[in-house]
Amino acid sequence: MKTSLTELLGCRYPIIQTAMGWVADSVLVSATCNAGGFGFLAGAVMTLEEIERSIADIKARTDAPFGVNFHMYVPYAEDIVDLCIEQKVKAVSYSRSPSSASIEKLKRAGIVCIPTVGAMKHAVKAVELGADALVIQGGEGGGHTGSVATTILLPQVREAVTVPIAAAGGFRSGAGLVAAMALGADGIAMGTRFLLTQESPVPENTKAVYIKTPPEQIVVSTKLDGLPQRMIANSYLSDLMRATGIGLLVRAIRNGVAFTRLTGGSLFGMLRSAWKMYRSGNTTLGQTMMAANAPMMIQEAMVKGIPDKGILPSGQVAGVIDDIPTVDALILRIMSDADATLNSLATCHRG
Ligand SMILES: Cc1cc2nc3c(=O)[nH]c(=O)nc-3n(C[C@H](O)[C@H](O)[C@H](O)COP(=O)(O)O)c2cc1C
Repeated sequence: MKTSLTELLGCRYPIIQTAMGWVADSVLVSATCNAGGFGFLAGAVMTLEEIERSIADIKARTDAPFGVNFHMYVPYAEDIVDLCIEQKVKAVSYSRSPSSASIEKLKRAGIVCIPTVGAMKHAVKAVELGADALVIQGGEGGGHTGSVATTILLPQVREAVTVPIAAAGGFRSGAGLVAAMALGADGIAMGTRFLLTQESPVPENTKAVYIKTPPEQIVVSTKLDGLPQRMIANSYLSDLMRATGIGLLVRAIRNGVAFTRLTGGSLFGMLRSAWKMYRSGNTTLGQTMMAANAPMMIQEAMVKGIPDKGILPSGQVAGVIDDIPTVDALILRIMSDADATLNSLATCHRG
């Protein structure tokens, strides 16, 4: 299936595996690319050295193009940009835009810039800043998410921009791919569905929690970093919801220090990038202070396999997923289901 998205990214199928902190590692990304999709490495929770090692590992596992996701709040964001250029990665993704100078530098090097946005005004702004394509994430989606459903947001953005669009938030099947394309997308982007695959590094007991949770228990909270995030309701989230302002501040400082240690930076460097982020005008000081919360709280469940001791970012779609296929089987199934859906729609149309 050729679309403007497959042409732009150089992949066989219009299916993106999005970046997920602690989940989208070199094994998952290369499995996606080998299966004909396009994978993004979750660089936002990695040190520069880890990103470099992961890129080398992806290249050892696949010849197909792939992308790197990063977050502008790490002090070495500019170094990640330079690394992506040096390593000739095909695309970068981000949810908070890097500086326009960085975007220009990436584009000059021929790297596709494809940010994730969850609101119409952010989509228009991202294109003005130079995005070559967009991932449009509706409110059903996992992790940071907006408040408008995919079925509303997607056609709204389609009418406003001309760049290729991957629809995200709630996708898992071939019927979903066809529906997204009918609403104006050029492909789909999925996080949660790829989290629940054999190649995903998430421990089995954590995956089991995702599989057994119904959609109604996958809720949105702003308690992590002040921005709406969709996750599975568990006892840890209930504790967070009850925490007072002081309790949240103590947690934010503790997680900030832990994140600084993990990413090999200094506390001063972190405070400096937090200040830069605040000055850029996209976030409040409170949100900036809490920016390191999410990556640290996700780690407990995703890496250590203690689902009750951390947060479990998830799209509502987890509530209707009941298997853990290999990435290859998943992508083939989606594409053959898409064919079957198109055929049955054509038959139905002909009467
Ligand atoms: C466990 C998890 C971790 C995530 N981490 C990131 C991240 O590090 N960077 C990012 O841009 N998006 C992140 N996201 C959002 C996903 O990349 C993607 O946009 C979203 O999952 C799409 O919705 P879906 O889950 O319904 O497919 C995360 C999502 C999940 C479920």
